[in-house]
Amino acid sequence: MLALTRDDWDVTEPAPAFGPVDLVLHAAAWTDVDGAEAEPQEAAAVNVGGTQHAAELGAPLVTFSTDYVFDGRKRTPYLESDAPNPQSAYGRTKLHAEAAAGEDAWIVRTSWLFGWTSRNFLLTMLALGADRDEVAVVDDQRGSPTFVGHLAKAVRELVELPHGVWHVAADGDCTWAEFAEAIFEEAGLDCRVRRISTADLGRPAARPAYSVLRSERDGPPRLPHWRDGLRDCLARLP
Ligand SMILES: NC(=O)c1ccc[n+]([C@@H]2O[C@H](COP(=O)([O-])OP(=O)(O)OC[C@H]3O[C@@H](n4cnc5c(N)ncnc54)[C@H](OP(=O)(O)O)[C@@H]3O)[C@@H](O)[C@H]2O)c1
Repeated sequence: MLALTRDDWDVTEPAPAFGPVDLVLHAAAWTDVDGAEAEPQEAAAVNVGGTQHAAELGAPLVTFSTDYVFDGRKRTPYLESDAPNPQSAYGRTKLHAEAAAGEDAWIVRTSWLFGWTSRNFLLTMLALGADRDEVAVVDDQRGSPTFVGHLAKAVRELVELPHGVWHVAADGDCTWAEFAEAIFEEAGLDCRVRRISTADLGRPAARPAYSVLRSERDGPPRLPHWRDGLRDCLARLP
């Protein structure tokens, strides 16, 4: 296995020579959702150009897409056959990236990722919760927080299944505020959650109010409930 960082390959450029590759897992992306509003071309260079360059390697490709390709107006789970209608520059780049991946790719649409590395909502809440009595968290966006450990197992199953778009997210759903409360409860942190609205937060990019993903395809990988993902992730933290 060859695990590459940005230092090894800036995906806005064609890939350096690696030799033969059996499978590409393409997770590099511009993920600054608000920043993409101000710099949409730079975001597209990474997300669309990067995916095209990954596809040009000519190996079977798994690429990761997002619930933000949907507008969030539904109140029942989004299926693969639902029409995307991204409301943000980031969502638009990811939708174009799906097209750039080509017909012979597994396009994994997932949501609200958290894990034990990098920056994510779980790690942010753990840091804030250890430091403050109260945090304000948005309570009018509903999705499925997905533990990357569970997603990785699902991707292993997915590569035995046909190509195309697959919705792969944790079971269950919640708002960000409910997720924050669960984090504090599971981590034993004494911190209150003040529920606020998306409008209160006033972020540059629009987010879908509802973006629960479910699969209508035959035999999709099934992930555990997000709360099990939270417990499993907390157990992996140092
Ligand atoms: N986070 C979510 O909630 C979520 C939800 C749905 C789908 N996704 C998708 O899942 C995938 C992984 O997301 P993530 O949350 O793990 O993202 P992340 O933590 O922001 O990681 C993205 C990675 O891409 C690298 N990268 C950025 N620009 C690059 C470039 N030009 N060349 C090479 N590498 C570059 C970053 O490197 P540096 O560390 O050096 O910047 C970082 O290692 C992405 O496709 C994302 O769109 C994420």
